[in-house]
Amino acid sequence: MAYSEKVKDHYKNPRNVGEIENASGVGTVGNAKCGDIMRMYLDIDDNTHIIKDCKFKTFGCGAAVATSSMATELVKGKTIEEAMKVTNKAVMEALDGLPPIKVHCSLLAEQAIHAALWDYAEKHNIKIEGLEKPVNDIEELEEDEEL
Ligand code: FES
Repeated sequence: MAYSEKVKDHYKNPRNVGEIENASGVGTVGNAKCGDIMRMYLDIDDNTHIIKDCKFKTFGCGAAVATSSMATELVKGKTIEEAMKVTNKAVMEALDGLPPIKVHCSLLAEQAIHAALWDYAEKHNIKIEGLEKPVNDIEELEEDEEL
């Protein structure tokens, strides 16, 4: 399996790892199949809706680490509306691609951003155009496991 130099770089030196205290929005998502978990923290300016800071923690495969790292870089400094355009495709393109078997890892990054934005929107009682309630947040995954 061939990984691009960018994927390797973001895996070895992930950007924006950590937590944001009192974050404006936090989103945790997971993939039930591989068991990998990603948590995204956003610091959003309430007036301008610009994402001032973004950090992440990923317990997962190398591609999940690389995609979350790239995703944080892509949403930083953007408005909420612009961040909505940071799809898993955009993250993959920024990383010069991922092997097909690893595409789902980039989906986790998109879902984590959306989950954090959803959290922000709920806290502030706003509606973000095009944003849907995250389906596979980790609580639901855990509920599923109990079935
Ligand atoms: Fe699970 Fe990559 S294998 S996110």
